[in-house]
Amino acid sequence: RRRKLAAYRASILHCLQDPGSVGRDAVEYFDDGILLVADGKVQEVGPAAAVLHKMPADAPINDYRGKLIVPGFIDCHVHFPQIDMIASYGEQLLEWLERYAYPAERRFVDEAYAEDTADYFIRQLLKNGTTTALVFATLHPQSVNAVFAAAEKRNMRLLSGKTLMDYGCPEDLRDDTQGGIEASRELIERWHGQGRLGYAITPRFAVTSTAEQLAAAGRLAAEFPDTHVHTHLAENAAEVAAVEKRFAGNRSYLDVYHAHGLLRERAVFAHCLHLHEEDRAVMAKHGGSMAFCPTSNLFLGSGLFDLAAAQRHNIRVGAGSDVGGGTSLNMLRTLAEGYKVLQLQGQSLSPYHALYLATLGASRALYLNDRIGNFVAGREADFVVLDDGATELTARRREHATNIEERLFALLTLADDRAIAATYVYGEPVYAKIS
Ligand code: GUN
Ligand code: ZN
Repeated sequence: RRRKLAAYRASILHCLQDPGSVGRDAVEYFDDGILLVADGKVQEVGPAAAVLHKMPADAPINDYRGKLIVPGFIDCHVHFPQIDMIASYGEQLLEWLERYAYPAERRFVDEAYAEDTADYFIRQLLKNGTTTALVFATLHPQSVNAVFAAAEKRNMRLLSGKTLMDYGCPEDLRDDTQGGIEASRELIERWHGQGRLGYAITPRFAVTSTAEQLAAAGRLAAEFPDTHVHTHLAENAAEVAAVEKRFAGNRSYLDVYHAHGLLRERAVFAHCLHLHEEDRAVMAKHGGSMAFCPTSNLFLGSGLFDLAAAQRHNIRVGAGSDVGGGTSLNMLRTLAEGYKVLQLQGQSLSPYHALYLATLGASRALYLNDRIGNFVAGREADFVVLDDGATELTARRREHATNIEERLFALLTLADDRAIAATYVYGEPVYAKIS
């Protein structure tokens, strides 16, 4: 059988290592490069001159010269059911959940609404260059079915799972403790490992689960070790106080999850703002990951993520939009706010490090770096074509950039979805901007 080959010519940038620890040498950049894709996987990336003469003469070349190809963005934490209440005014976390999030999630009892919203959400991800995400659904199994079906239709690598809540939330959004676990198990059997989909066992946060539910979720996580675990940790001061009061026997908020078997490899904790230093050592030791969600942390007034501290402990960190607490699905916008969050703490985020947090770093945080995150040969060909010529401002600013690092920084600081010219999933076009 003849392989399906396609070449993409553009400037090409990707990370081979962590620029946060090794600096500029962590990236590979081809000013005039070719990404060669065969049957949905990266065959080769390199300088156009070199790749061109090795390619079969009849392989189609997609000419994106003047634009920049990077790996598809990976969003390590996002709530699809909150897409219709993004940008809701005036509250911090616990009140915001009551006033906006729970009412929005209640609507997902309606399967048709769940399907329509999931499809819209996935289209929005692709329009923003995001090709993989770790996604909160609601407690309704139909919300999980809807988002998996919408991703499967486009062959996206996507992780999701039903929210587990059996305490401290509205009655009609509450699971029977064991029933929620059984429903999760059924969804694992239906979806986990189906194509590019993976299941995430998803207790919302310690505030909304009984100890019994956390323990049962932990047992499920042990029974299915290659599923993910997805929850929130230490986002807001009032939340932390409530957890530390109710679980006074535990050393810390993280220890509540740890003691119930929920801290392990492939466990992703959103936010991680108000930690004890010992928590970072424990997180690192057990292979847990952090999702850094800057637009949300600023919007909900939650606090500032300490990236330097996470790095000192060698903790896996990826960027997350956390929509609808976050204010954009766009990972460039998210990284731009991440830069500002670090500026406020006297830290920094280099342009390459920023790119890493939404590509290779995020794939490491999700333990998917053998599949996605960069253009090493054999990786799944998920990629984005960025266009800094898309607006008058970015087009003119680009002319004043003297190198790729400067160009990338200006682009991520100024960009929105207009900068996404095209998105490819497993080598297939799934979004193209109409210009
Ligand atoms: N903590 C528990 N639930 C949520 C949620 O929906 N959004 C955010 N940002 N934090 C949470
Ligand atoms: Zn969240």
